[in-house]
Amino acid sequence: KKVSPTGRSEREGLLGGDPRAQAGDHLTTAQGLRLSDTDHSLKAGPRGPSLLEDHHLREKITHFDHERIPERVVHARGAAAHGTFVAYGNAASATKAGFLSQKGKETDVFVRFSTVLGSRGSADTVRDTRGFAVKFYTDEGNFDLVGNNIPVFFIQDAIKFPDVIHAGKPHPDREIPQAQSAHDTFWDFVGLHTEATHHVFWNMSDRGIPRSYRTMEGFGVHTFRLENGSGETVLVKFHWKPIAGVHSLVWEEAQIAAGVDPDFHRRDMADSIEAGAPLEYELGLQLFPDSGEETFEGIDLLDPTKIVPEELAPVQLVGKLTLDRNPTNYFAETEQVAFHLGNLVPGIHVTNDPLLQGRLFSYVDTQLTRLGGPNFSQLPINRPHTEVNDNLRDGMHQTAVHTGLAPYLPNTIDGGGPFTTDGYVEVPVLVDGPKVRQNPVSFDDHFSQPALFYHSLTAVEQVHIAEAFTFELGKCYEQAIKERYLTVLARIDTALCETVAAGLGLPAPSDKPVTHGDVSPTLSQIVAAPGPIT
Ligand code: HEM
Repeated sequence: KKVSPTGRSEREGLLGGDPRAQAGDHLTTAQGLRLSDTDHSLKAGPRGPSLLEDHHLREKITHFDHERIPERVVHARGAAAHGTFVAYGNAASATKAGFLSQKGKETDVFVRFSTVLGSRGSADTVRDTRGFAVKFYTDEGNFDLVGNNIPVFFIQDAIKFPDVIHAGKPHPDREIPQAQSAHDTFWDFVGLHTEATHHVFWNMSDRGIPRSYRTMEGFGVHTFRLENGSGETVLVKFHWKPIAGVHSLVWEEAQIAAGVDPDFHRRDMADSIEAGAPLEYELGLQLFPDSGEETFEGIDLLDPTKIVPEELAPVQLVGKLTLDRNPTNYFAETEQVAFHLGNLVPGIHVTNDPLLQGRLFSYVDTQLTRLGGPNFSQLPINRPHTEVNDNLRDGMHQTAVHTGLAPYLPNTIDGGGPFTTDGYVEVPVLVDGPKVRQNPVSFDDHFSQPALFYHSLTAVEQVHIAEAFTFELGKCYEQAIKERYLTVLARIDTALCETVAAGLGLPAPSDKPVTHGDVSPTLSQIVAAPGPIT
């Protein structure tokens, strides 16, 4: 066993990488040539120019020059851990996925937590959404649950993703701000694009500054479809419930932590795991009948800006996730891991949520660039813990040495294989409709759920959210942008709007515009009157 500079012992062969990569005691070139000097370049005399023929010098510097790969276009800053998922066995009536349905079944997992907007070197405790991406290495192939710590999203259709991210990322001229929503383009966008209101409210609440990764909830956001062993289907929203409870920082703590220890969250996770205190969560399912309308109690299940209150559909706990092993190598594991919603297993299916549908395209597309070609599933961290026989060949960074003749099907030369019996079969959901660029009408309700969320907060949390809106909007240079956002706040709660307006030194808007979905229900009103909220 080797001991790292921090005193930690390294696990060898953990990821099944090339065992020759660090073999032997001698320093060698990449070609295995033993070196006698790595401190001096080859020169024409001690005072002479360096010689082009010095292969070791060029190899050492060239390799170093290419050590970095592009950071993720979003979720660039992240930290990860290995662990295990154990199924309670009560999900079999909903899904035939083995890792969920078999009582006591243990499945290896790798989880990457992240912020969304900042670059790789930004601080952990900024106000932002957190990624909560889980790779389950199941016996039936990899299943990725690529979620966030907020149950809704800014947009309803993936075609808006470049817009929301361009508006939220640092300005192209000054490259500020890092990972804060405190700037004109963000508030300009979300003031105009009011379907973002629900997500903005969660972000401005204490949920936007979690205390640690171990105290965050996680959400799959979209509605998925489960299928059991009898072919019966049910719609589902996935939830992660932290066993340590949900806890946030207060703003002043987040500010201090960002300065004193920008690695606050990743250090907390790595240190706790090393100290024998794993991070623990339970996986929960909110189930809804697959009735064809894809709505529940009037809430459109295909709209990723909507939640279903737990009072209406309880979260049923079906297994436990324990994160108890730190990565050995940040680059090999945390940086090179590639998540994708299309990584499904039998018993779990996607739905027509237009945000989900676009994500199915985006992740592999970006990973082709970020990870340098089509063979990133061969990287140790991405490799399934099951057999692979895929008929895919060649390409950049191919590491497999395939044998045999050309891979094609059908064939008679290779015994007719590999075979396609007992594989994944999509649920034959009927797809029928005119070709249009339109959303369902229910997607026009942008305000009822943020109002529900705001009114569910305690008095202290409502103070925090008012302070957050005041601080973040206060960073805008354009007064018109602040004024427009006040009209959005007016639709959620008059007192909140007045408090923020006073904090900004602006008058509260007098003309509260009335629009579709301009209602502010309480949960009891929804429960008492099931049906469309709008
Ligand atoms: C990365 C979640 C919407 C494109 C990520 C990551 C998470 C995530 C957790 C980080 C994965 C990692 O740790 O490597 C979500 C959630 C969404 C959402 C919960 C909405 C419900 C979208 C949409 C698009 C998109 C609509 C594009 C149309 C990307 C891209 C990456 C990413 C390109 C970088 C992937 C990589 O470089 O490996 N997302 N995302 N996301 N997301 Fe999303």
